[in-house]
Amino acid sequence: MKYGFIGLGNMASAIIRGLVKNGVPGADIYGSGARPATGQALAGSVGLNACAGNAAVVASADVIVLAVKPQVLPGVLEEIKALPLDGKLFISIAAGLTLAWLRGSLGPVPLVRVMPNINSKIGAATSLLCAGPDANEEQVRIAREIFSTVGTVSDIPEHLFAAATAISGASPAFTYMYIDAMARAALRFGLPRKLALKIAASSVAGSARMILESDEHPMSLADQVCSPAGTTIAGVVSLQRNAFESAVHQAVEAVILRDREIAR
Ligand SMILES: NC(=O)c1ccc[n+]([C@@H]2O[C@H](COP(=O)([O-])OP(=O)(O)OC[C@H]3O[C@@H](n4cnc5c(N)ncnc54)[C@H](OP(=O)(O)O)[C@@H]3O)[C@@H](O)[C@H]2O)c1
Repeated sequence: MKYGFIGLGNMASAIIRGLVKNGVPGADIYGSGARPATGQALAGSVGLNACAGNAAVVASADVIVLAVKPQVLPGVLEEIKALPLDGKLFISIAAGLTLAWLRGSLGPVPLVRVMPNINSKIGAATSLLCAGPDANEEQVRIAREIFSTVGTVSDIPEHLFAAATAISGASPAFTYMYIDAMARAALRFGLPRKLALKIAASSVAGSARMILESDEHPMSLADQVCSPAGTTIAGVVSLQRNAFESAVHQAVEAVILRDREIAR
């Protein structure tokens, strides 16, 4: 199987590294960026074939991951749609661009839409996947396998993609901000910066595992941390008074609205 990547930025490089780590030889991967230097850098580090253009990637690969920014993708599809595409599987990771839009731009080719997240870089992505009408089971399996090399993959019906994307694709940024805010709050009270960040990040990682592994509702877990007239309930009430939940709701809604705007 030959793998192709159009766009070799943050996401593509993470997925390529995941593939290579899982035994795919760099020689079976083809890629192109906007600038030749981008492909050459990855050729040097993982042994990928740096192609002179997007058409060469399509010609060389069986599975092509479309990993350019959503605003760049229409031009890329225009460039490749007239090439021989028979038997090739296309996977788009572009935010906001629907399977119907992709099919309208590229034609009735096997298509899978995947939304990974930035945690792909350390093999801890939460990827969402849905398949177009022309992709068969084997092709969906291949797409799932590619993204399994960088984390977990969940099948999501496309009408729920925007909501799921908001809490997988965008939420790492929210969580990084939350961790940084907690660390800086502790810094104010004397904790060294590096130690504060380590403690905040590790507490968030452990709390996430508790939710995933304990099968308990997050609010039930929160109740267990709050003793009567204790310190934690004072902090919880302060967060509620400062509209913590409402701020999170508004952030998720903002992501969904922007996703719809891009889709239009
Ligand atoms: N970053 C995330 O957290 C995240 C999460 C989920 C999904 N996504 C999606 O992943 C896609 C890529 O995002 P990213 O963060 O990886 O972006 P990025 O780091 O900016 O990378 C974009 C890549 O596209 C290349 N490119 C630009 N124009 C091109 C063209 N005409 N032909 C071929 N390559 C071209 C760029 O080449 P040069 O390097 O040579 O400029 C660059 O390698 C986006 O659609 C985004 O919605 C991103």
